Amino acid sequence: MFFLYHDMSHYEKYLITAALPYANGPLHIGHLAGAYLSSDIYARFLRLQGKEVVFVCGSDEHGAAITIKALKEGSTPQDIVDKYHNLFKDTFEKIGVSFDIYHRTSSELHHETSQEFFTTLYDKGIFETRESEQYYDPKANQFLADRYIQGTCPNCSFAEAYGDQCESCGSTLSPTDLINPISKISGDKPIKKKTTHWYLPLNNDEAWIKEWVEEGTLEGKQLHDPNDWKNHVIGQCKSWIENGLHPRAMTRDLDWGVDVPQSIDGSEGKKLYVWLDAPIGYISATKQWAKDNNKNWEDYWKSDDTALVHFIGKDNIVFHCIIFPSILRSHGDYNLPVNVPANQFMNLEGRKISTSKNWAVWVHEYLEDLPGREDALRYCMVKHMPELKDSEFTWKTFQEANNNELVNNVGNFVNRAIVLLNKYYDGVLPEYDAWAEIEGPQGQDELTCYDGEILGLFDNIHRVYEHVHKYDFRGGLKTIMEISTMGNQLLQNNAPWQLIKEDEEAVKTVMMLVTQYVGALRIVLRPYLPFASDKLSDLLNLPNLKEDGEWVEMMNTLADGEDILPAGHKISAPSHLFTRIDDELITAQVDKLNASLILDEVATTASHSAVKETIAFDDFTKLDLRTATIVSAEKVKKTNKLLKLELDLGFETRTVVSGIAKSYDPEKIIGKKVTLLANLAPRKIKGIESQGMILMADDGDESLCFISPEKDDWSNGMTIS
Ligand code: 2FM
Ligand code: ZN
Repeated sequence: MFFLYHDMSHYEKYLITAALPYANGPLHIGHLAGAYLSSDIYARFLRLQGKEVVFVCGSDEHGAAITIKALKEGSTPQDIVDKYHNLFKDTFEKIGVSFDIYHRTSSELHHETSQEFFTTLYDKGIFETRESEQYYDPKANQFLADRYIQGTCPNCSFAEAYGDQCESCGSTLSPTDLINPISKISGDKPIKKKTTHWYLPLNNDEAWIKEWVEEGTLEGKQLHDPNDWKNHVIGQCKSWIENGLHPRAMTRDLDWGVDVPQSIDGSEGKKLYVWLDAPIGYISATKQWAKDNNKNWEDYWKSDDTALVHFIGKDNIVFHCIIFPSILRSHGDYNLPVNVPANQFMNLEGRKISTSKNWAVWVHEYLEDLPGREDALRYCMVKHMPELKDSEFTWKTFQEANNNELVNNVGNFVNRAIVLLNKYYDGVLPEYDAWAEIEGPQGQDELTCYDGEILGLFDNIHRVYEHVHKYDFRGGLKTIMEISTMGNQLLQNNAPWQLIKEDEEAVKTVMMLVTQYVGALRIVLRPYLPFASDKLSDLLNLPNLKEDGEWVEMMNTLADGEDILPAGHKISAPSHLFTRIDDELITAQVDKLNASLILDEVATTASHSAVKETIAFDDFTKLDLRTATIVSAEKVKKTNKLLKLELDLGFETRTVVSGIAKSYDPEKIIGKKVTLLANLAPRKIKGIESQGMILMADDGDESLCFISPEKDDWSNGMTIS
């Protein structure tokens, strides 16, 4: 095992970005599990590998999300962004997200940087100008952003669809598709008015984007290996590309955002599209960091030896894999990301996290309610990180992870080691016989020796490295827990508390081996649980890690056959690394969460729509309602909410398109009894003729449930009266 430790990456410098959160509401655990813990672990890990890392983030302070929040709260956009920017900065720091800079898009530097981008693209003749008619609110005297217009969805008749999307059937809309549109500002019907905007012709970039995403090559040069990218990221890009890329407006008629540069004709009243300016926020953040640290920002964005990695949530994939790369390449000279390891979503106690419904664990509140337990949250978030598919957080699993894994495994191991070292050697690490036979972690009868076990430790640490290197943070954490389990087993199998009576020399060998495990945990746990790593440093009487190549140092030390913690070093007195979380604390958090649910129900009840106008019995009898069974179900391509169903009516089979995909998994509803409005005029939805409508109960919150005959064996085709 005497060799020099080499890492697998050929990059020396990394520019790591984490999605800029919208400054319109506090951070919740979904944010952490999405972009922020993964990026933090990766940044810390690379620093430990001795890489040069710049880890940037900041608040996304433009866009309709901010102005709508201000409108709702009777506040100003500036007040809103100031409030949340400060809260974000503080929360990220407290939960240990180690940005090198946390910037903001309202800064002057950012405005300048994004305007420079716009001007360069404009001067290069990249943009197409297009005149179109857009909705305008004469009372408010302004054009309406898509989110400011609501109306009836042309696809599913949902009355409160937004100008860009129907949240009921999931279809992507444009404001002019809406039936009976109204302005959310004045409540009036908007008028159409001509306006001119600058469009990025993504269609011109389709060929190279396809090749770059799918093959990793650009102009014959291999820039990344597409096998390193997550399937769901490539899948989403492919589906966009298959649909055809279209010119996308890069400007808006708004009064909040970055001004279109005045030097450009027709710039008055125009702002940059938020998805143009937000990712440029990564560049302005790097510029600010470089200024503050006497560096050249271009070394990180424009040189071949730097890897750009974007950490994001799945809703941001298209912007980071298609639109921003097109902007960067149109500008010229910029690196494209070597990876965009997007995470999926984390649900909470069986429901989608919702800011508006207060169905969330707010990180700043967690920090207040459970002080000193930053790492417990980090641990649980990583253990259930939605790396490849959506995942779930429950308070119960959080408690179990803390008590059974952090306390009982890592905490218990470290504590036993520190207690025994203090008890037997007054905390001074003893000289030992490396050839003494001791028992291995596997079982009572397996005899091993010091060097053999150190080799095993080396290999396991390298397994952690391999997982993290592949953005498999869950796998890395699991391996660390296995290392800790092995440490515990070494203690358990050799039972130094008994062995001390017969063979003091062998105990020294066991205890020194165990000490190397503790020393390794201080380093490998660092990216995941930085607070615990600092506590381990205290316990071992070592300085806190600077995250400056210590992992490599450790591996080289082990490979040289030397100890990470040598004989003669004096450690500190024992104290607990983690403490148990009792039931009361968990019950209080669950109650707090449920209180939001009750409040939300009260609010929903209060806003129940009024009972519709009375109808005659004859009107009712016109409805032909029938029992039916779902015999097949599949998602309608390119929609989020639609399922195509085949229904058995006993006397015939019908195809029905239904907006229930958010509430039901197609595989799980085969065989389900439902009620069909069988004489509704057929209509085409997404090219499929829907022959009727299934009756659903709607809680007004995207959740729907079938109105089914109570008896499961009820025949199909029966009338309902
Ligand atoms: O989805 C969001 O929260 C966006 N504010 C993310 C922006 S990421 C980047 F491009 F700035
Ligand atoms: Zn719809």
